[in-house]
Amino acid sequence: MQRVFGLVVLALSAVLVEAAASHPALDGLHALVQRRLADHADSFTFQLSEDEGDSFVISDTKGKPGGITVECTTVSVCARGLYTYLTDFGGVDIWWTGSRLDQLPSHLPRVGKPVHGTAVVPYRYHFNTVTFDYTTPFWTFDQWELELDWLALRGVNLPLAWVGYEYILIEVLHEAGLSDTDISSFLSGSAFQAWNRFGNIQGSWGGGLPMQWVNDQFALQKQIVTRMTELGMTPVLPAFTGFVPHAMSSIYPNASIVNGSQWSGFPSALTNVSFLEPFDPLFATLQNSFIKKQQAAYGANVTHIYTLDQYNENNPFSGNISYLANVSAGTFASLRAADPEAIWMLQGWLFFSSETFWTNDRIEAYLGGAPSNDSMIVLDLYSEAAPQWNRTSSYFGKPWIWCELHGYGGNMGFEGNLEAITTGPIDALNSPGSSMRGVGLTMEGQEGNEIVYDVLLDQAWSSAPIDIPSYVVSWVARRYSVKSLPAAAQEAWRILSTTVYNNSNPNNQAAIKSIYELEPAVTGLVNRTGHHPTLISYDTNATIVPALQLLIKAKAENEALAAVPEFAFDVVDVARQLLSNRFIDAYQTLVATYNSTNVTSESVQRAGQPLISILSDLDTLLGTNENFLLSSWIAQARNWSHGDDAYAAYLEYNARNQITLWGPEGEINDYASKAWAGLISTYYIPRWQTFINYLASITRLGRAYDSTTISNQLLLIGQEWDARTWGEGPGEHWGVSGEDVWELVDKILATWA
Ligand SMILES: *[C@@H]1O[C@H](CO)[C@@H](O)[C@H](O)[C@H]1NC(C)=O
Ligand SMILES: *[C@@H]1O[C@H](CO)[C@@H](O)[C@H](O)[C@H]1NC(C)=O
Ligand SMILES: *[C@@H]1O[C@H](CO)[C@@H](O)[C@H](O)[C@H]1NC(C)=O
Ligand SMILES: *[C@@H]1O[C@H](CO)[C@@H](O)[C@H](O)[C@H]1NC(C)=O
Ligand SMILES: *[C@@H]1O[C@H](CO)[C@@H](O)[C@H](O)[C@H]1NC(C)=O
Ligand SMILES: *[C@@H]1O[C@H](CO)[C@@H](O)[C@H](O)[C@H]1NC(C)=O
Ligand SMILES: *[C@@H]1O[C@H](CO)[C@@H](O)[C@H](O)[C@H]1NC(C)=O
Ligand SMILES: *[C@@H]1O[C@H](CO)[C@@H](O)[C@H](O)[C@H]1NC(C)=O
Ligand SMILES: *[C@@H]1O[C@H](CO)[C@@H](O)[C@H](O)[C@H]1NC(C)=O
Ligand SMILES: *[C@@H]1O[C@H](CO)[C@@H](O)[C@H](O)[C@H]1NC(C)=O
Ligand SMILES: *[C@@H]1O[C@H](CO)[C@@H](O)[C@H](O)[C@H]1NC(C)=O
Ligand SMILES: *[C@@H]1O[C@H](CO)[C@@H](O)[C@H](O)[C@H]1NC(C)=O
Repeated sequence: MQRVFGLVVLALSAVLVEAAASHPALDGLHALVQRRLADHADSFTFQLSEDEGDSFVISDTKGKPGGITVECTTVSVCARGLYTYLTDFGGVDIWWTGSRLDQLPSHLPRVGKPVHGTAVVPYRYHFNTVTFDYTTPFWTFDQWELELDWLALRGVNLPLAWVGYEYILIEVLHEAGLSDTDISSFLSGSAFQAWNRFGNIQGSWGGGLPMQWVNDQFALQKQIVTRMTELGMTPVLPAFTGFVPHAMSSIYPNASIVNGSQWSGFPSALTNVSFLEPFDPLFATLQNSFIKKQQAAYGANVTHIYTLDQYNENNPFSGNISYLANVSAGTFASLRAADPEAIWMLQGWLFFSSETFWTNDRIEAYLGGAPSNDSMIVLDLYSEAAPQWNRTSSYFGKPWIWCELHGYGGNMGFEGNLEAITTGPIDALNSPGSSMRGVGLTMEGQEGNEIVYDVLLDQAWSSAPIDIPSYVVSWVARRYSVKSLPAAAQEAWRILSTTVYNNSNPNNQAAIKSIYELEPAVTGLVNRTGHHPTLISYDTNATIVPALQLLIKAKAENEALAAVPEFAFDVVDVARQLLSNRFIDAYQTLVATYNSTNVTSESVQRAGQPLISILSDLDTLLGTNENFLLSSWIAQARNWSHGDDAYAAYLEYNARNQITLWGPEGEINDYASKAWAGLISTYYIPRWQTFINYLASITRLGRAYDSTTISNQLLLIGQEWDARTWGEGPGEHWGVSGEDVWELVDKILATWA
């Protein structure tokens, strides 16, 4: 039996219905409706019930024709109930490319028989620590607002909230007696903070982190946390991790401070981060200071869940079982001393990435240091391909979240395994002794492949694996949301969803990088698997080609599609993938030509031409769409400069270096590469042309291929490119080009299909 707040009031009068609807906890949801559906601000009534669990009922409002009532157990669930109505009945949705909720019919469709929804897990999680650098580092609150509405409506109730961490950390370090110089030599650049927070890197290249940045990010975080809370989400906030400036050892000579391991080939000065061991009393002091200051900044009870990672790609000082248990016991005790309800959230990537170190007894000891089973939440970070819960007896009883890792470095290639993300969570939930409590998205970068994200978040509301074919039909219908959607559009997505997005090869999951984004070389680019995969597991001719042809056919049958931003986005994206895959063939022909016995410098140049031609077509194509522009990324970065040119140049360097060299000397070269207009024309094309010229010249001179020579030459191109200012070079312009995307796609199909 449902007990509903305001039920009695409801019966009394229509005026009081409004009063019941405006339960203060629901103000944020009403504001969302006002923001996205202003024409329907009065149509929706939300009622919080006292029932247990996460469930909602959608029905037609009694006595109010055209009104819709959502009864729900929490504010987050109310948002999900609203979303279910908007998508299933209203046929509209909100996308990363924008909200189309305002296209809800003015006459609201009736629900008829009430619709019930129940979450199968209490936690719906979103973000990875590194998403805050690969995707959101330069976002304004407007961009956050769209993202948070997108999350809230899909029922996410546990988002990570890292923005502005340094503000509070700096206060804590000051209080501990460290100087500004001690601290500034520790902090990393505006596009690299995630890895400083993880203790992978310390310090900056390209200039120290300005205090203006720290202050602006802190102000932004206040807005983000407030909005998350208003929308019924519990932000997962940071805590003190133990990573400290080297100077901490001079100020506290007796403190237990060890040097962390070296990370990703960075020179010692930029890595080997000092780690204050959590059993040292100083750790608890700094933790208490951090949590208290954070509570003062954002509110005492906005969360009790803390993200805290000490060994992400960073192995412990010792593998001794009692040492590991001691570290986690000290860490957890410090959290509970500062917040008696604290729960420690751990990003479980370490157990996969450092699997040989993290044997089961070490994992058990480390997790066991936090007593009881309600003390932690572990993110099983890569559940779709490399789950760890199944080798750790469900994390030895600790609650954990089934997560999809996606978009390595924000790479944009098509990738997804819809089968794994529908059956996987349900099988895990039903496995004997399972302590799984949530599903979530832990993408490194949130770029493209939106269907994958939708499917997983929807799976949280279905106890059986979602039926993909019927799901895709309704997803496409609301994504393009035109009257009489041509069957060809559905057919395009049927093909993609059953092939490209049904990739069950465990060796190239998470993201597919296009080889033209990698530093040119004669070997090592094609068919890569593992952490930087380039292997394409589908037949382009039977998937991408017909999908693109069908989308273009759909547009010919209904020109209204041309005006749908998501349709234009998808056409550009599919054509992008076509050109990316064709580049592989052209590259292989170039290498074969270079290796052939009758090779001449002219034949190398001739074989190189198609590579440049594909990249040039690709740049022109991407230039038509604001979602595929280097200039958008750089403009976002410079936007934080307050008109200070030196600061703008600093921000631009950070933005450029992350997507290219990733480090002063190409330490993680091309890891966060992007398919963006402007990046292709000003960076990838010159790199490939240099490479082609190199092959032609050594052929002419009869010299052997020397990977160091060419690699050094290409590194210099990268360093010069990173130091540039956008807008000053030839062909560099802000914003979309204005070329006709449909004509371009026709040409691409004619040439490359
Ligand atoms: C560090 O320990 C030594 C030896 O126990 C002691 O003499 C010294 O006073 C301590 N220094 C500080 C700063 O606590
Ligand atoms: C840590 O490394 C730095 C150099 O990066 C060195 O100066 C310092 O002495 C080391 N500390 C310890 C405890 O090994
Ligand atoms: C940095 O870490 C590596 C191990 O990852 C170690 O060999 C090296 O000695 C460390 N350097 C310093 C200065 O601690
Ligand atoms: C936070 O919640 C606790 C109870 O869980 C309460 O005692 C405390 O007063 C609250 N703090 C604030 C500032 O609301
Ligand atoms: C682990 O550390 C404990 C406590 O310091 C020590 O007694 C034990 O011998 C160590 N075990 C190993 C295998 O080194
Ligand atoms: C943790 O290690 C410290 C320092 O070695 C020691 O004093 C403390 O007793 C240990 N705590 C536990 C719970 O083992
Ligand atoms: C866990 O599941 C994955 C994916 O199904 C599988 O590859 C792996 O072998 C399993 N591990 C264990 C220990 O069962
Ligand atoms: C934690 O959960 C595991 C597995 O369900 C169980 O064996 C263990 O007893 C629990 N521990 C505590 C302290 O409740
Ligand atoms: C890559 O894999 C494809 C398909 O498995 C194969 O045809 C091709 O020869 C491979 N290329 C290289 C360079 O390994
Ligand atoms: C794919 O189509 C292209 C262009 O028609 C053709 O050159 C190529 O051989 C085809 N590849 C395969 C694997 O069928
Ligand atoms: C081309 O030559 C390189 C050595 O220069 C060799 O490693 C590579 O396997 C050859 N590639 C092909 C496709 O023949
Ligand atoms: C080189 O030889 C190959 C076969 O050995 C032939 O297909 C190709 O046309 C020749 N290229 C030139 C430029 O002569």
